[in-house]
Amino acid sequence: MSLFELNKIAGALLAALLTAGIATTISNLVYPEPHVPEILLAVPASDEDPAPPAEAPTEPEIVPIAARLAAADPAKGEREVRKCLACHSFGAGEPHRVGPNLYGLVNRTKAAGDDFLYSLAMADRGGTWTYDDLDAFLAGPQAYVPGTTMAFAGVRDPDARAAIIAWLRLQADTPAPLPTH
Ligand code: HEC
Repeated sequence: MSLFELNKIAGALLAALLTAGIATTISNLVYPEPHVPEILLAVPASDEDPAPPAEAPTEPEIVPIAARLAAADPAKGEREVRKCLACHSFGAGEPHRVGPNLYGLVNRTKAAGDDFLYSLAMADRGGTWTYDDLDAFLAGPQAYVPGTTMAFAGVRDPDARAAIIAWLRLQADTPAPLPTH
C-alpha cells in the first residue's frame, strides 16, 4: 500500500468520525435525553403516603365588590379611566371610539351601545352589566369574554377596579343603586 493510499484511508476515516460526531451532537441538541433527577432514582419505591405537599401560596382573598364600592373613591376612578380614554368616551351622547360610548353603562344590557359593531363574543354574552360582571370583566377582559375585541389587559388591583366602577356609575342620568351585598 502506498503512502498516498494510506493517506486517503486515514482521510476517509477522519471524515467519517467527524460526520458521526457532528450527527450525534445535532441529535443530542434536537432530541435531548430525558434527564431523570438523581434524587428520584435514589428514592426506593414505597407504599407509604408521600409527604404532604408544601402549602401552596394562596391568593389574597378579594373583598366582594359591594364592600369595595362602599369604600371606593370616584375621584380615583376618574384618574384610573384615563387608560380607557384611548378607546372609550364616557359623556352623554358622545361618539363611540375604538370601543363603545360608556355613558349609563351600569345595569345596561351588554353590547347595547347604539350603532356600535360589537364582536360576536360580546354580542352573545347576554345579560346586563351588573357590578359583579363589570368587576370580573375589567379584571381580565379576555378571560371573561373570550374573543372580545377589547385589546386591554385589564386592571389587576381590585380597589382600582372598584374606583373605576364607582366613577362609571356616576356617568348616568340616574346612577344605579349601589349593591347591598
Ligand atoms: C384598546 C382599546 C380599549 C381600551 C384601552 C379599553 N377598551 Fe373597553 N372596549 C373596547 C372595545 C373594542 C370594546 C368592544 C368589545 C367587543 O365587542 O368585544 C370594549 C367594550 C367595553 C365594555 C362593554 C361595553 C358594552 O356596551 O357592552 C366595557 C364595560 C368596557 N369596554 C370598559 C372599559 C374600561 C372601563 C376600560 C378602561 C379601564 C376599557 N374598557 C379600556 C376597547 C377598549
